[in-house]
Amino acid sequence: MKGIVLTAGGGKRLQPMTWATSKQLLPIYDKPMIYYPLSVLLQAGIRDILLVTTKHDLENYKELLGDGSQFGVNISYVVQPSMDGVPQGIVLGKDFIGDDSVALVLGDNVFYGSGFKENLAHAVNNASKGIATIFGCRVDDPTRFGVVDFDAKGTAISIEEKPLVPKSNYAVTGLYFFDNSVVERACNLQPSALGHFEITDICQQYLDQKKLKVEQLDLSFAWFDTGTVDSLFNAGEFIRVMQSSTGVKVAALEEISYDAGWIKRAQLLKCAERLKKTEYGKYLENIALSTRR
Ligand code: DAU
Repeated sequence: MKGIVLTAGGGKRLQPMTWATSKQLLPIYDKPMIYYPLSVLLQAGIRDILLVTTKHDLENYKELLGDGSQFGVNISYVVQPSMDGVPQGIVLGKDFIGDDSVALVLGDNVFYGSGFKENLAHAVNNASKGIATIFGCRVDDPTRFGVVDFDAKGTAISIEEKPLVPKSNYAVTGLYFFDNSVVERACNLQPSALGHFEITDICQQYLDQKKLKVEQLDLSFAWFDTGTVDSLFNAGEFIRVMQSSTGVKVAALEEISYDAGWIKRAQLLKCAERLKKTEYGKYLENIALSTRR
């Protein structure tokens, strides 16, 4: 399975912070935002990743993430010329995806919860059988999101993008697992009334064909779309509290890769050395010195 992470939005709701830099390079507590969605792809076992960005931000992402080898993965880049919508990431990634299935993650989404790795494994498995998977999360204000409605048995029955009158409180999170047919679907998609291509329209196609699984994330799960000032701040505070109470870092890409056996101890120590003036560096060093992989 391939992975695509989207970072080409304008970040208008975070201005003036995003006047000079990409939203996904802003910090969430101790790491750049982009680490969090990337960590989701890594936890799903995905090592071939395409980052969709703007011409303006391309060099900054390359400087931060390089070819991905420091995290034991392959990262390539493509520029999205105009902000026509999330499905354009799939269109631009057509050759990169090839005959494979693909996971798409929005660069401003943060996920945290137990059992998430199992959820991801199911989604990867579903995609290999032609079934798409998305994740629904209960929110207070669904009008900001794609909204999924369920019948009494918990089966998804409709998906609407930012409805004025939402049919449920379940937002569609920015994480999508698709089989290869998504490439054709994205290339043939018609724009919405507002002239944008909507990822929810692709999800609706899968739903109509009974090829969509909607996993409901339970109330113990934390999900943030960090596209507003308050949600950015809340996500940072949440990560700070979780990390300081558990002593475990969230979205430490080097750790995930090391645990998966994709980088060796020497490489982990090298990453730690580069970050030696930080708690993050000390954390990675401790892992390297206390394990034998
Ligand atoms: O976060 C979940 C929500 O994300 C879903 O509930 C919605 O269904 C989905 O449409 C999306 O809504 P947003 O309004 O939050 O999307 P936004 O325009 O903020 O873009 C999300 C990410 O995708 C962001 O990191 C920028 C990137 N992006 C967006 C567009 C429109 C691109 O890379 N290219 C684009 O053309």
